[in-house]
Amino acid sequence: MTHFTEKTIQNYPGWDEFYAGEVDEKIDFFTKGHRLFDVIYSQQFDRRFLDYICRLSNAIRLLAKTKAGSRKLRRLLAHKRAMLYFVQPSTRTFLSFLNACHILGMKVSDIRDTSTSSEIKGESQEDSIRTFASYVDLIVIRHPEAGFSEKTAWVLNQSERPVPVINGGSGPDQHPTQALLDIYTLERSFEHIGRLDGKKIAMVGDLKRGRTVRSLSYLMKNYEDITLYFVSPKVFKMKEDIKSFLEKHKIQFYETDDFQSVMPLVDAVYMTRIQKEYADDAVEEADDYPDFFFKEAYLSIIQPHCVIMHPLPRRYEIEVAVDKDPRAVYWRQERNGMWMRAALIAYIFRVEKEILKELTAQ
Ligand code: NCD
Repeated sequence: MTHFTEKTIQNYPGWDEFYAGEVDEKIDFFTKGHRLFDVIYSQQFDRRFLDYICRLSNAIRLLAKTKAGSRKLRRLLAHKRAMLYFVQPSTRTFLSFLNACHILGMKVSDIRDTSTSSEIKGESQEDSIRTFASYVDLIVIRHPEAGFSEKTAWVLNQSERPVPVINGGSGPDQHPTQALLDIYTLERSFEHIGRLDGKKIAMVGDLKRGRTVRSLSYLMKNYEDITLYFVSPKVFKMKEDIKSFLEKHKIQFYETDDFQSVMPLVDAVYMTRIQKEYADDAVEEADDYPDFFFKEAYLSIIQPHCVIMHPLPRRYEIEVAVDKDPRAVYWRQERNGMWMRAALIAYIFRVEKEILKELTAQ
């Protein structure tokens, strides 16, 4: 069907002012009864929450291993339904949310292609989302626009049917649930060497438009004595908003385009892809930046305990020969996303105590 109708643009009085406000002042709007209700940005997470959600992810991971445990998990939210509105491409985030819902017994529907929905008739995206809220109990959104999931949560929280909204990636801005699974992966990786506090992390690649490194950087304020190394081509340097946040919270960071010089210093290397889909002129932009690739030869330069992470998908940033090294944790990181997202959903629906109790009972 051809798209003949222009998209309807609706005016929501108050939204522009709200959106322009300071994040710290907006957080309460996404909280209910002192607990997270909507998950929009990673500044919403404090250390207590992060420790708790890691513990809960562990509990779900362990319970899901047994038939009896997974049956118990599936009963917890069998009365709830979720909607995955993923109008920007996704493999991992979509599948891990879908499977996280299934672990907890939820029913799931999805829209990934708006050409099959009423948006083709010109319905606004806000009205489409309000429609989902009529049918489901949770909405997860991946969208190319930075503020779309925030706007959805803002609109729904003022409606008669406020259902929780989770941001599954908001354009080049944030990816808070990825940051959670990254923290879980780091904490698990450093379990026997004092956990994440005191560690040095290199973030490598497109730091300007990569939402994963942006959301993860915000979380560093919750940990003691972290040092960040931002390693990127000059054109893709970390943006000022993140750097001033780190300065404000007295988190040490260095910027460099010399990847090899930081390799022996760090406890984790977080690789990222060049986000060409956000290029102003994609044709003009170079396809790859080999100085920011992790090659097999570098395995002898990094420390014996240094983990190599990547949110995936990868292109050429990590040679496949690196995959078999035990320090390459990106496939585990990917799977951690499913446990972490199940934990987050269980927390939002307040069934997490039952999970923790079940684990101790086993
Ligand atoms: C990332 C994303 O979508 O931001 N992928 C993911 O969610 N695991 C990273 C990327 O696309 O490069």
